[in-house]
Amino acid sequence: MVKKILVTGGAGFIGSAVVRHLINDTNHSVVNLDKLTYAGNLESLSSISGNSRYSFEKVDICDADEVKRVFNTHQPDIIMHLAAESHVDRSIDGPGEFIQTNVVGTYTLLEQARAYWAALDGDKRDCFKFHHISTDEVYGDLTHPDEVTPDTELPLFTETTPYAPSSPYSASKASSDQLVRSWLRTYKLPTLVTNCSNNYGPYHFPEKLIPLVILNALAGKPLPVYGKGNQIRDWLYVEDHARALVLVALEGKIGETYNIGGHNEKQNIEVVQTICSILDEVEPRDGKYAQQITYVQDRPGHDMRYAIDASKIQRELGWTPQETFESGIRKTVEWYLNNEGWWKAVLDGSYQGERLGMAG
Ligand SMILES: NC(=O)c1ccc[n+]([C@@H]2O[C@H](COP(=O)([O-])OP(=O)(O)OC[C@H]3O[C@@H](n4cnc5c(N)ncnc54)[C@H](O)[C@@H]3O)[C@@H](O)[C@H]2O)c1
Repeated sequence: MVKKILVTGGAGFIGSAVVRHLINDTNHSVVNLDKLTYAGNLESLSSISGNSRYSFEKVDICDADEVKRVFNTHQPDIIMHLAAESHVDRSIDGPGEFIQTNVVGTYTLLEQARAYWAALDGDKRDCFKFHHISTDEVYGDLTHPDEVTPDTELPLFTETTPYAPSSPYSASKASSDQLVRSWLRTYKLPTLVTNCSNNYGPYHFPEKLIPLVILNALAGKPLPVYGKGNQIRDWLYVEDHARALVLVALEGKIGETYNIGGHNEKQNIEVVQTICSILDEVEPRDGKYAQQITYVQDRPGHDMRYAIDASKIQRELGWTPQETFESGIRKTVEWYLNNEGWWKAVLDGSYQGERLGMAG
């Protein structure tokens, strides 16, 4: 059955990959609800924006009247909620915006979804779903290999790992996850939650590690590595995440949580060195790009390791990532080399690559 899917945050990095996937690879219709903060960029949707199955609403998820209007106008079957403030460093500099959008905004959306859903009937009511998209950062910090002997088996995040967020960002996401689960338990609103590891890929805002390193390398600027660079993240190519999200939205079981991850644990310094060697090969110049690596003061409260056990989504929904880190990072570097227009316009805006998140 063809569905009308309302995607919040569809102009962001992951949201735009979800919208492009829905329009390019399925028959479903999409309503993109986005406030267009500094992180929202309609240029990321230029390839599909003329499609008759796509529409855009510039709305803040904290604005209850506007959210209500959009629900009533478009009559969605599924809500995929991605809109958020998403950068840990910015949450350290200014947590208020994170509480507002991630907590109050999610609460507002839940309340409006509840009122909208209560007024539906028949199949439309029975099949309605609210899919909340979250992060593995809610689980906090995992044991790092440097802390234990080499033969120690390292833990992974499962869907039952207790929450222990470390940053204002992850604490605000943890709060929103718990609100979503409580709206199911208390009001029976049909919700489900996914928690995913770090994403990378095309259209990524250049404040995040991978695009920042690619663009600074090309500009001959320092490549900032926080602390010793030994923090481990489990990297997932954004289009693999988008496929997983649409699968969960369509086929996931109400009340369930699904962890999504790439089985690609890498230290930050390895990621930076890999980008440098790809650039040495595809964009050679005098000297090695790795000479630009500069170690800088670490982020306060920085988690040392995240790693996801994604066996549940694989077992129950048949999802596995299509990209390895090696194939995905090469595609990503090539995308930035071929899409200068996109990132130059972004860098002409409010962010020019400066260091954020020093906590005063
Ligand atoms: N980036 C990652 O690695 C990662 C990993 C796991 C989960 N997530 C989660 O996925 C979601 C999307 O992440 P992203 O990296 O694409 O974020 P992003 O910062 O690139 O995009 C966020 C989008 O939300 C919009 N937005 C922000 N505040 C809004 C508001 N008040 N009302 C309406 N729209 C608003 C922005 O304009 C932007 O388009 C977030 O919920 C994030 O927590 C991200």
